[in-house]
This record gives sequence, structure tokens and C-alpha cells, in this order.
Amino acid sequence: MKGILLAGGSGSRLAPLTAVTSKQLLPVYDKPLVYYPLSTLMLAGIRDILIISTPEDLPRFRALLGGGDSFGLTLSYREQPSPGGLAQAFLLAEDYLEAESCAMVLGDNLFYGSGLSRLLRAAAVRAEKQARATVFACRVRDPERFGVVSFDECGRAVSLEEKPLQPQSSYAVTGLYLYPPGVSRLARTLRPSARGELEITELNALYLARGLLDVETLGRGYTWLDAGTPESLFEAGAFVRMLETRQGLVLSSPEEIAYRFGWIGREALFRSAQRCAGTKYGEHLRTLAEEETLRRDKNAARRQV
Ligand code: TTP
Repeated sequence: MKGILLAGGSGSRLAPLTAVTSKQLLPVYDKPLVYYPLSTLMLAGIRDILIISTPEDLPRFRALLGGGDSFGLTLSYREQPSPGGLAQAFLLAEDYLEAESCAMVLGDNLFYGSGLSRLLRAAAVRAEKQARATVFACRVRDPERFGVVSFDECGRAVSLEEKPLQPQSSYAVTGLYLYPPGVSRLARTLRPSARGELEITELNALYLARGLLDVETLGRGYTWLDAGTPESLFEAGAFVRMLETRQGLVLSSPEEIAYRFGWIGREALFRSAQRCAGTKYGEHLRTLAEEETLRRDKNAARRQV
């Protein structure tokens, strides 16, 4: 499965913060916003990822993330000339995806919760082996701002609507979508909506109509945030700070995920720690690498006794 990280858009709701930089490069507490959705794709087991952004911002993503070596990834880059909607990503990525299944995440979405990796990997298997698409739905206070999914009495998804004036449910579709091979072909049948965008909700509705869409609801154990307004960007930072300070963890560190999954070795982790020396982030990576060294040393010592 390949990944798409959609990190373009105009970020107009964050002006003037986004006057000279991309929303997805703004800080969420201790790291750039883009690290969070990148980590989400990695948790799904995806290592081959296409980053799509505006012609102005794409070089900055390249400068930050490079070829993906320090995360054990293969990163590619593509321009979206103008924000033509979320589903446009599949047209831009058509030759990149070839005949592979894919997961797309929006560059300003944060997901957190125990068991997320398992949930994502199961959806990836359904896309690869059963040609099924999966979206994730979350209860929100203001569903009219999102794509909304409604369910029948058996909990089966029955309708999808983009920003409805009168939502049929409180469940918003989050910015994480998994599709079987052939999604670009289907996206090509879409026509621009009244607001001039290729709507992902319409794409998802095509899978729903064919009986090929699974809607996973993210319950109380999960947090889904987007960081598209000053308020939500601030809240996302506060959320990350609270958890990291309280638990002594670092959330959504691509280096840590890569190391735990065995995609990079200890030397690469040390190098990343060195690059962030003097920060809490760098300190965390160094401790992680040293813990492993310590564990290996102890095992070696035990074997010698
Ligand atoms: P939005 O928040 O809907 O749009 P935006 O980022 O342009 O912000 P604003 O509404 O404040 O002007 O986009 C959601 C995510 O999708 C965000 O990460 C940007 C990305 N995006 C693209 O990359 N290309 C697009 O054509 C659109 C519409 C969004």
C-alpha cells in the first residue's frame, strides 16, 4: 500500500500565520504539524509516501523531510497547481499509485489513540485483499462543517453528505481514507462541485453505493483533531503538550515509529537525536537509542556470565 499526504490548500483561515508558509509546517507544540499525519500513515505500515503541496510550499517540505531516509521511508513530491479539492489528489497521483491500494491523510489532521495501528493495518488489508475502502467517523459538536455519515439502526452507513445544512447524524468523516487499487480511475469520473472542487465525499459515496465502503467509528478512546483555525491549532498544541508532559512521551515522532518498527537502526536514531540536540525532542530520541543500547549490553553481559 502507498500513502498520500495532502498538504496543500490555501490555509486562509489561519492568515496571517500562513502568509509566507504552509499551514502544515506550523508548529504543534514541539514539532511541525505535518509530522502528525505522516506518523499516522507510518502506523498503517506504509513506507512509500507521496507528499502533495502547492508549488510555493513543496520545496519547504522537501527541505524538511528530504527523501525520507531518517524515517526509513521513501518520500516523493508532487505539486498541486491550485486547490482543486481533496479528490484531485488521486488524479495527480495516478501514475505514482499504479495498480496499488492507497491511504490518504490530510496534512492538518491529528489522530491519537491506543490500537490505532491495528485499526489502520486491518483497513489496509481490506483494501488490498477485498477491494474495500475505509473511512473513519468521529462524533463532533458541529457536523455541518464536515462530510457527515449517517447510519441505519444496525449501524450500517447509509448516506454521506458534504457540509449539510441539516446533518442527519453527529458523525463527521475524518481526513484519513483507505482505498483499493483503481481509486484514480474512479476519481476521474467526478465533476467539480458547486464550490469548484473534486469532492472526496462524492468519491466515498461511489464506494458506498457499490457496497464497498467500511465506516469505522472512532470511539471515546480516540482523539481526532484538525488544526485549520487559530483556535484548533492552539488546542492541538495544548493537547500534545499535556500528554507529553504528563506521560513523559513524545507523540507522533516519525523517527521513533521508524525505530520501533525496525525501519531504521540505532545509528540513524542517534543522528536524528544529534540534529535536535538540546531539545526535549532530541533528548527523547537519544534516551530511546540508549535504552536499546543498554538492553543489548545487559543481554550480552548475561550471555557472558
Ligand atoms: P481545508 O482545511 O479544507 O482547506 P485549506 O487548507 O485550504 O484551509 P482554509 O479553508 O483555511 O483556506 O483543507 C484540508 C486539508 O487538505 C489541508 O491539509 C489542506 C489540504 N488541501 C489540499 O492539499 N488541496 C486542496 O485542494 C484542498 C481543498 C485541501
